[in-house]
Amino acid sequence: MDNFLKITDIKKSYKIDKQNSLHVLKGINLDIRKGEIIAIQGQSGAGKSTLLHILGTLDRPDSGNINYENEDITKFSEKELAEFRNKKIGFIFQFHHLLPEFTALENILIPAMIDGKSMRERAMELLDIVGVKNREHHKPSEISGGEAQRVAIARALINSPKIVLADEPTGNLDTENANSVIKLIFELREKFNQTFVIVTHNEEFADKCDRIVKMKDGLIIS
Ligand SMILES: Nc1ncnc2c1ncn2[C@@H]1O[C@H](COP(=O)(O)OP(=O)(O)OP(=O)(O)O)[C@@H](O)[C@H]1O
Ligand SMILES: [Mg+2]
Repeated sequence: MDNFLKITDIKKSYKIDKQNSLHVLKGINLDIRKGEIIAIQGQSGAGKSTLLHILGTLDRPDSGNINYENEDITKFSEKELAEFRNKKIGFIFQFHHLLPEFTALENILIPAMIDGKSMRERAMELLDIVGVKNREHHKPSEISGGEAQRVAIARALINSPKIVLADEPTGNLDTENANSVIKLIFELREKFNQTFVIVTHNEEFADKCDRIVKMKDGLIIS
């Protein structure tokens, strides 16, 4: 084990009223290696998105530790977390969440600009890698759903994140576009040794991944 990402006994509950809480994560333990592509599966409500949000520092666990390369991010302040999130984590969602008034190129550059660097060349290279270089000046309404998701993947990679977290990245795509997004994710691993954690209901996709983590009622069952 290379201590790339070590998740220890993560628990999370939400208050539903004064007396009751909903225990959504009941003690999650997981070790992830650099360059690994992991599928997370489980029925609706199992806690998959909650776990992804916590790994992505969008939400804090009630207890437990998350060590990225031996650095425990659960100890970070809000400011440190925001910086870590922006620089070290890429997100891909079911819907591309591109900003409608910006072009493909500008959308990719947005996380880099938050970071205060000009990354135009890298953004162009990423557009090329994800196969939509000729759409650089198009706005999201002027490209297909599959192309928009490719742009969203390029956006996730602009800051060379430690890890890319994806929640149903092919859930909104037809089979052909889904397959090409899956192929792209494996190409990105080849090229950058990029680590991915992917929540997916797509069985074919999950079977291709290095590991399938199955969740049920807030626990990993296999
Ligand atoms: N902010 C919140 N406040 C209260 N309850 C929440 C909150 N977020 C999630 N939950 C509840 O936690 C449980 C797990 O939710 P989560 O979104 O992690 O499930 P999931 O495995 O991603 O399901 P799906 O496959 O439907 O996306 C659900 O019962 C959900 O209603
Ligand atoms: Mg979910």
